[in-house]
Order: sequence, then structure tokens, then C-alpha cells
Amino acid sequence: MSSMRAQVGIVGAGPAGLLLAHLLRRDGIESVVLENRSRRYVVERVRAGLLEQGTVDLMTDLGLAARLHRKGLVHEGLSLRFSGRSHRIPLTELTGKVVTIYGQNEVMKDLIAARLAAGDDILFEAEAVGLEGIDTTKPSIRFRQGDEEKVLACDFIAGCDGFHGMCRPAIPAGALTFYDREYPFAWVGILSESPPISHELIYVHHARGFALFTMRSPQLSRLYLQCTPDDDIKNWPDARIWEELQLRLGDEGGRLAEGKVTQKAVTPMRSFVAAPMRHGRLFLAGDAAHIVPPTGAKGLNLAAADVRVLARALVEYYRHGREDLLDRYSDICLRRVWKGQRFSWWMTSMLHRFDDQPEFDRQVQLAELDYVTGSRAAMTSLAENYVGLPFEDI
Ligand code: FAD
Ligand code: DHB
Repeated sequence: MSSMRAQVGIVGAGPAGLLLAHLLRRDGIESVVLENRSRRYVVERVRAGLLEQGTVDLMTDLGLAARLHRKGLVHEGLSLRFSGRSHRIPLTELTGKVVTIYGQNEVMKDLIAARLAAGDDILFEAEAVGLEGIDTTKPSIRFRQGDEEKVLACDFIAGCDGFHGMCRPAIPAGALTFYDREYPFAWVGILSESPPISHELIYVHHARGFALFTMRSPQLSRLYLQCTPDDDIKNWPDARIWEELQLRLGDEGGRLAEGKVTQKAVTPMRSFVAAPMRHGRLFLAGDAAHIVPPTGAKGLNLAAADVRVLARALVEYYRHGREDLLDRYSDICLRRVWKGQRFSWWMTSMLHRFDDQPEFDRQVQLAELDYVTGSRAAMTSLAENYVGLPFEDI
């Protein structure tokens, strides 16, 4: 069996794994990234699209944001629409910060191209199949590439392999506590060759269910509709999607052109946290440790925040032999993660239709929306969470 060595073995070339690899390289720490999918699959996968200012700043500091600054769409506000009217929340006026629309697959393209240009490896179609010695100072990752099984020996393993990955399950039963919440709905998401109907995002509360209007470029719209949790995309022919969007967007929908639908999928909704985010020499980051329902646009941004902390802790270890930041990694991340969970749960609860909802609860939802869009204090609370809470000093 052939074997390789790296200071840090990273499982997963998603945003968490690749940002971590770049952060470590900047400080002279070498890593190997294993990714079970092909490069093409990773850069074509359509997912998140909204970057907090802190995530953009992180990419800028790493010299990875030239295309992001050219192509990203900077937003200074968003709209909440309910009872047939849209209400703007001026994010930048309230917080001094902006958010940027730039597809996760574009982020992936930039991170992969920069790593390969620097001559560093990402092993695509290399599936991690076993972790050994995570309780020791010499952990290793067994992985399969083609017909061959190989071993990557390292000092630390970063489990950045997403919600369905193998790193979290490699931690002995009983060492982790899971916090979980499922929602009685999902989203149908489409990408359509339709010019955006508005410069800013529109989050819609409607008796027929939630809708979200967002975009990827001046030619491409991204649209989401609340559907049932086990819905099949086959139940959503284009005509039904356009009709539902028109109904839910109301007079905002008048400008929506029915363009060619280039992507269509159902996204499940779940809140999940595994704690602690570390076991011995294995550190979990991003979706491997926690997922949020997408309403608050926090998934990718939390993944970036985790690896910022992990990279800092590893740099302190290699430079000064300090282990205290590694020991505090999980606590530092979880403070932000739980605030992201709270915000995502709150946005989700306020904006979706719950089928068994008593009319009382629906009136409370509408009162909350009225309050959030009418009170500067409440708007500021939404805005500072949405643009991204400040990073903790570490
Ligand atoms: P991932 O991006 O999942 O990356 C993990 C990587 O690990 C993957 O490339 C996977 O192929 C690889 N991997 C898994 N197992 C192995 C293995 N055994 N060996 C090697 N590699 C492995 N967030 C939002 O904010 N807004 C949205 O609209 C939104 N939509 C989403 C839609 C979908 C369908 C999904 C699944 C997620 C969505 N998210 C959204 C969440 C957001 O995309 C994630 O939070 C983000 O991708 C997390 O990054 P990550 O690097 O932690 O994990
Ligand atoms: C996008 C997705 C979200 O879930 C969100 O809250 C904002 C934007 C997007 O895909 O652009």
C-alpha cells in the first residue's frame, strides 16, 4: 500500500477544506486535500450564493478574491415581503457592512485554480475510507483512488467532508452530543436565465408558503419555493414553478421573465450540531459539524469562520508549540455556530408556512414581520446577524 505524508490531512475539497488549505499554506504549513468527487462535479454543484463581508475579507486577505471583486454583486439591503407589501432593510446603513452574491461554485473554481497554480495538490476522486489513530499524535487517513488503497500519515486531520462525510462517524459513539431539528418543509430551487427582477433579494412570507428571489448575475436568477419535506422534483414542472412564483411574489413577480431553467433541485431543511467539534487529533469543520436551514444564508459562512479559527490554532501550534488554541477550537467555533443556528432557525420560523399552524401563530408571525420591518432596533438585530457577526479576537 503506498503512503504519503503531510502536516495536515484535509478530508473534503468544499469551501471549508480548501479555505483551510489556503490559510495553512500562507503560514507555511503543508496539507494534502482528499476529495471523493471529480473537479468538474465540485465546480458545477449549485449551492449557496451569499457571502458575508467577513468571508469576502478572508478571501481578499488570501489573495483569492480578484474575480469575486469583479463579478460579485454587492448588496446594501434586502426586502422582506408579507401581506402583499415589500419592506426594505437597509443593511449597510444599519451596520456599515455589505453582503456579496457570488455562487459557491464560483468560490470553488477560484480556490481550486489558485491551489493548483501554486503547485499544491488536491487529490480528486480520492475517497477517505478510514481514519486511524485519531487519539494518538500520529493519525492517518486511509483513502481509495481508483483501484488502489493508500495511506496519508499526518499530524492532524481536518474533517471538512460535509454532512454526509465519514469523519464525524469515525469519532467513537458517546464522545459527541448531537443537537438536531427537522422542519416540516423543504425548498425547490431553480437557476433560470431570467434577468433579476430586483437589485436586492426578496424574502417572501405568503399563505401558499415561503419564496426567495435571489440571483447569480445580471442574466441569471436563483429562485426558491417552499415545498413539502419529501417532495420529488418531478412534481415541479417548470410551468408549476413559474405559476407559484407569480402567486407568491405578487406584484414583484410582474417583471419576472420565464427564462430557460438550467438547474432544479429540492434542498432539505435541517438544523444540526455535533459537539465538541474535536476528538483527539481530528477537528471537524463546516457542514461535517453543523448544518443550518438555508433561510439565513449562513452555511458556507459558518464553514469559513470555523477554518479561520482552526488555521490560527494550527499556526500557533507549529510556530510556538501552543496547544491552548487547539483546545479552545471547539468552544470558540460553537459560540458563533449557535448564534448562526439561532438566526437561521428564527428566519426560517418567521418566514415559512407551517401546515398545522393555528391561526394565532400565523398572526404572531405577521406581527413579528411588522415589528422587524418597523423598528430600527429590530431591523438592526436582523441586519447585524445577516451581514455576519464580528469575529471573536483569538
Ligand atoms: P461541503 O461543501 O459539503 O464539502 C464537503 C466535501 O467533502 C464535498 O466536496 C464532498 O464531496 C467531500 N467528501 C465527502 N465525503 C468524503 C470522503 N469520504 N472522502 C473525500 N471527500 C469527501 N447554504 C447557504 O448558505 N445557502 C444555500 O442556498 C445553500 N444551499 C444548499 C443546497 C444544498 C443541496 C446543500 C447540500 C447545501 C446548501 N447550503 C446552502 C449549505 C452550504 O452549501 C454548505 O454549508 C457548505 O457547502 C459547507 O461547506 P463544507 O466545505 O463544510 O462542506
Ligand atoms: C441564497 C440562498 C439563501 O438561502 C439565502 O438566504 C440567500 C441567498 C442564494 O442562493 O443566493
